[in-house]
Amino acid sequence: MPTDRIPIAPLDGVAFCPTPLHRLDRLSAEFDAEIWIKRDDLTGLALGGNKARKLSYLASEARERNCDTLITAGAAQSNHARMTAAVAAMLGFKCHLVLAAPQDQTGNALLDRLFGAEIHWAPGNDWKLLSDEVRRVCDEVLSVGGRPLEIPLGGATPVGCFGYVAAMAEIARQAGDAGIDFSRIIFASGTGGTHAGLLAGRELLGVPAPRLHAVAVAQPDALPKIVASLAERTAAACGSDASWAEEEVFVDARYWGGTYGEATQGGLDAIGLLATLEGILLDPVYSGKAAHGLIEMINSGEIDRSEPVLFLHTGGAPALFSSAFSGVVTAITTEDRDL
Ligand SMILES: Cc1ncc(COP(=O)(O)O)c(C=O)c1O
Repeated sequence: MPTDRIPIAPLDGVAFCPTPLHRLDRLSAEFDAEIWIKRDDLTGLALGGNKARKLSYLASEARERNCDTLITAGAAQSNHARMTAAVAAMLGFKCHLVLAAPQDQTGNALLDRLFGAEIHWAPGNDWKLLSDEVRRVCDEVLSVGGRPLEIPLGGATPVGCFGYVAAMAEIARQAGDAGIDFSRIIFASGTGGTHAGLLAGRELLGVPAPRLHAVAVAQPDALPKIVASLAERTAAACGSDASWAEEEVFVDARYWGGTYGEATQGGLDAIGLLATLEGILLDPVYSGKAAHGLIEMINSGEIDRSEPVLFLHTGGAPALFSSAFSGVVTAITTEDRDL
């Protein structure tokens, strides 16, 4: 397996890798299937999640460019914002977060403040409102002599995607050690950075499999084009001239429920299943929806029960403790479940 073009994580201690990869025995038994999990919920940084991998490269970029401030944006319950605040605290950067109203002081938003980030509430969830506010905050930081690095939503730049190029190599190595050929990797996709990094990584490793099964949690129509372009730029930054047509990028639009950030019944059921059968925490915005897709596809026969599949757990559990989701999470814990 050629690994010479896979970028090596430049900062120690931001993401603890390799994360574990293991079989989900009770879930597999429940569905008479072969289900494995990659634990990127355990990347370590501030309760973990996929953004730790991206931020280890992005924070290094900030150091190289002599920046002193990280600025990023997201939803009130953004995991990316929480981990950006944490990496800033860890490495001594100032941090400004532009978050979408309605204002929230719980879950991820509570942790943002604990890490010392300055929060700016944009008046709504619209991308234009968020980016206008990011611009204003950047200008303000520059006007007082600050040196900001603006990190886009989800850390979705080629440098951020290096985190998942390296994760693909890690998965290939762990699968080889375990003697398993995964038919597909199932994961939640929002800004497309995780997907793009995996795609570029698979290309750089020269391995055709596993199939990358992205479960959209937002913008499913736009994602194929975004991912194709980001993967191409990421691969180019690693010295490859690979490119993808939009049509070659598969994004599954069946499980997101039509609104980013809103829980779905299937996602909540999946959260309950993983919690009670495996002691693993998912979240209502990302990993719960991806796990819903996994379970539905096994139930419907779309995934053959003998196929070893890998669920990439991208994190997100701090949202379970937010007031935004307390009602739906309480409902999972009180419904009758036959365990
Ligand atoms: C927990 C979790 N899972 C998945 C994603 C989606 O990752 P990406 O933005 O790289 O598509 C995010 C993004 O914020 C996330 O926080």
